[in-house]
Amino acid sequence: MIDRLLTRRSVKVKNLTNPAPDGAELEQIVRAATRVPDHGKLAPWRIKIIKDKGIEAFSSLVATRFAAIHADANDKQINHERERLANAPLILAVLYTPQEGRIPLWEQELSTGAVCMNILHAATALGFAGCWLTEWIAYDAEIATALGCGERDRVAGLIYIGTAAEAPEERPRPELGEVVEEWVGATRG
Ligand SMILES: Cc1cc2nc3c(=O)[nH]c(=O)nc-3n(C[C@H](O)[C@H](O)[C@H](O)COP(=O)(O)O)c2cc1C
Repeated sequence: MIDRLLTRRSVKVKNLTNPAPDGAELEQIVRAATRVPDHGKLAPWRIKIIKDKGIEAFSSLVATRFAAIHADANDKQINHERERLANAPLILAVLYTPQEGRIPLWEQELSTGAVCMNILHAATALGFAGCWLTEWIAYDAEIATALGCGERDRVAGLIYIGTAAEAPEERPRPELGEVVEEWVGATRG
């Protein structure tokens, strides 16, 4: 398990192929996704499973919105937008549904991020691959509404999942010394 955590890499949508998790494996992924720290037990998140006909519907919606936003886009560009997403066999859309009350929204957002990350880790643990993207798609109000967002909700991430067609290359990571240090007390200036 620790090896999976230490070596996980995002895989681009164009490099995701079948098989994707389904049935019991998909259930394990969403179960792990909802087992996150959640101050106040608010569950300020929802997951939409997009697969099969859903992928067709979602990529058509994305293409339609792309065409609406880019009035000068030609058919090739619109189809490119449709097809690059349709390449993923499974998409989990994570929606953030903020709850009014005593729990700071920031903490609810962090919990929602943890949902996204648990999806990636669970998929990786089962031998699948994926990536967490927002692009313009997560910020388009009509797409958000179509996914089920209310007025205050947001799309935290679209997690594209499948099997890696080729092993991804490593990418640079910060040196631990740049981002981690022991704290031994406040320093006085
Ligand atoms: C909230 C969030 C949104 C992201 N959106 C995008 C995106 O729209 N496009 C993109 O290229 N990478 C995006 N990324 C980055 C990728 O998910 C990923 O971190 C990156 O490709 C590095 O891969 P790694 O997971 O192997 O470190 C996003 C990451 C986060 C946390």
